[in-house]
Amino acid sequence: MTILVTGATGTVGQHVTELLVRRGTSVRALTRNSTRARTKLPEGVRIVEGDLMQPETLADAFHGVEAMFLITSSDEPYADLNTDPQVVALAEAAGVKRVVVLVGYGEGPVEEALKASSMQWTLVQPVEFMANVLADWRDTIRTEGAVREFYGNALSARVHEGDIAAVAVEALLGDNHHGRSYPLTGPEALTRREAVSAIAAAIGKDIRFIELSEEEARQQWREQGYEEESIEFFVQMAINTPEVGYTVLPTVEQVLGRPARTFAEWATEHKREFLS
Ligand SMILES: NC(=O)c1ccc[n+]([C@@H]2O[C@H](COP(=O)([O-])OP(=O)(O)OC[C@H]3O[C@@H](n4cnc5c(N)ncnc54)[C@H](OP(=O)(O)O)[C@@H]3O)[C@@H](O)[C@H]2O)c1
Repeated sequence: MTILVTGATGTVGQHVTELLVRRGTSVRALTRNSTRARTKLPEGVRIVEGDLMQPETLADAFHGVEAMFLITSSDEPYADLNTDPQVVALAEAAGVKRVVVLVGYGEGPVEEALKASSMQWTLVQPVEFMANVLADWRDTIRTEGAVREFYGNALSARVHEGDIAAVAVEALLGDNHHGRSYPLTGPEALTRREAVSAIAAAIGKDIRFIELSEEEARQQWREQGYEEESIEFFVQMAINTPEVGYTVLPTVEQVLGRPARTFAEWATEHKREFLS
């Protein structure tokens, strides 16, 4: 069985690829840059170039593929790919039988396209990834032993990206996942302050939590290059976090038969990345 992994060089996709390889599956990895991808992916994975924004580049990628792991947004923060229905149609025409798709919350065009297709499909819907804190906090923890954040009491039931991948792999390889949606969280909801404390415990060093005012936070995001629309989204997600963002769900354990991994476990696995 050959499985096409899109986003294979990304945070979740690398876990999906490794887990599939360990299960003895033939993996084809889609990337826009095969040279860079070779440095990130295990030996034995066949790398194909293609761009999900340009579906006409995907013909080779689908050849002989039975199942696909599909991402639905680009590495532009929160930007949808907008080409998903076309990608779904191409996959179906190429003979792909099963699609596991990584989506955010809410119905979008990819869900509609999958439901209208003859393929088996499963939706994997994680809340915030634990790994997001690497981009947000790693640099200042390393250089200053501090985190500058807005609204330290904002809660999140962050999920371990390895657990997202493990659920996706079960849905790709197992039976009885067709037509299911799997909203995924970690096993607890932590505030930002608590998450920073968990990293401090993992690295054995104090980390100062410097709470930014809303204006300071907006300015920091501007300096990091975010558009005003994204900044507004970040502010609202902190102040008015939707219930789905912090309500702990049992889905990971139900699908995998083992508990979801904690943020403290994640922090211990990643402690070297926070040490200068
Ligand atoms: N971070 C979160 O909290 C969160 C929550 C829910 C859902 N998501 C979604 O989950 C998905 C995966 O996130 P991630 O963090 O694992 O990814 P990531 O680390 O941000 O990496 C992005 C991946 O997407 C691929 N990619 C981006 N644009 C592409 C395009 N036009 N054509 C082909 N491949 C493209 C990249 O491949 P190459 O660079 O190799 O081409 C890379 O593998 C994203 O769609 C994200 O929006 C994220």
